[in-house]
Amino acid sequence: MLSSQVADDGRRRSLHGHWSSRMAFVLAVTGSAVGLGNVWKFPYIAGQNGGGAFVLVYLVCVILIGMPVMMSEILIGRRGRRNPMATMALLGREEGHSKRWQWVGALGVVAGVLILSYYSVVAGWVLGYVVKSATGTFAGASAEQVSATFAGFTGSWQAIGLTHTLFMGLTIFVVARGVERGLEQAVRFMVPALLLLLVALLGYAINSGSFMDGVQFMFTPAWEKLSWGSVLVALGQAFFTLSIGMGAIMAYGAYLPEETSITGSTATVVAADTGIAMLAGLVIFPLVFANGLDPAEGPGLVFETLPLAFGKMPGGVFFSTLFFVLLSFAAWTSALGLVEPAVAWLVEHRNRTRSQAAVMMGFLVWFVGLGSVLSFNVLNEFTFLAGTIYDNVDYLTSNIMLPLGGLLITVFAGWIMCRNSTADELGGAGTMYKAWRGLARFVAPIGILLILINAVWPTIRATLDI
Ligand code: PFF
Repeated sequence: MLSSQVADDGRRRSLHGHWSSRMAFVLAVTGSAVGLGNVWKFPYIAGQNGGGAFVLVYLVCVILIGMPVMMSEILIGRRGRRNPMATMALLGREEGHSKRWQWVGALGVVAGVLILSYYSVVAGWVLGYVVKSATGTFAGASAEQVSATFAGFTGSWQAIGLTHTLFMGLTIFVVARGVERGLEQAVRFMVPALLLLLVALLGYAINSGSFMDGVQFMFTPAWEKLSWGSVLVALGQAFFTLSIGMGAIMAYGAYLPEETSITGSTATVVAADTGIAMLAGLVIFPLVFANGLDPAEGPGLVFETLPLAFGKMPGGVFFSTLFFVLLSFAAWTSALGLVEPAVAWLVEHRNRTRSQAAVMMGFLVWFVGLGSVLSFNVLNEFTFLAGTIYDNVDYLTSNIMLPLGGLLITVFAGWIMCRNSTADELGGAGTMYKAWRGLARFVAPIGILLILINAVWPTIRATLDI
């Protein structure tokens, strides 16, 4: 079956179809990148890690490590045109190396399933907040009432189990419809609409009275608060927010038409993703300070600050509902990328139809996600290593698996693939190509390794008592 992937002109084609245009690809990758990571996770971990210095390290990681990793993933994906595992095996052999590179693809497939398992739980909260907003729960509510609503909601495993189930259902539905009909349609209007609403909220934050406190918190570096542990969290967030290090972007790259510029597309996506995260921070932190809340309060941050602000605004019920609807869409388009590698793998290697593959993987993810559902209620006292089950899945995937995947991907693109192959995909050996190659061969792998070793070694040493 795979030989049918080679077209008459000798170029490979993907079995799953192709994006209809460059715009469609950029929208799909942006849709995957822009999600809960920008609006929910970035503000809460920036808050927990002291603000300014963390944000700067995060930005450096995005530019020096995130961009070359993303370009490497896209070029590998397009050259192989299969699911990430098969692509890595094929290119490994083609470049005169080993088929074993497929294990990098496998690491990504597992990371995707694990990330989606908790991502879906939080996305379920967002769905729940659409209903709560629409029914006026937050109208005129006090900070205590809003916090109590969040605690009550996540404290009920039935409630968040239901919304988790609903979100997984929505995800499977779109994935089953396939690349062009399913994935493309969903992203067309969501990103621009979310951007517009965030800009409108920025206007509100500027008038909240504490705008400069928020700006200061985000951009004044208190370097003494920065540890290797938080540098690793910043690196992990750069990977998470750009959807890189796990093959999602590689899978999307496999559907990319030959003539599209990889460098240009990457720059657009990174700018949009970083812009939205910064915007979210600039909306959230002023509201945190204006309402005397704690920036380090954790996963509930967005679910407490924004409803509070909306509750005081004219037209708040409408805007709050709209905001959570848009955030649901953002989460939805990101979730698609998380299962795509696993689904493509099942279709190609286990002879499943796309719908069967989507349902099977969806069920697996849903089941694993029950661990995260219970982490906020029944099992919230059950902690080990990084904390609850949810904390551990999050830590392991974002801070270990994604950076490790990114490291191996850049080593593969920078050292294993020959110059001709990569230059062919990146449109010639000009200045941009040289910059990418320098980053992919040296800066990104060494940077990732340094951060991983410095952050993880003390923990290992303490655990093993050496
Ligand atoms: N980038 C997404 C976010 O910021 O919400 C999360 C994500 C999606 C990570 C897809 C990885 C991925 F493959």
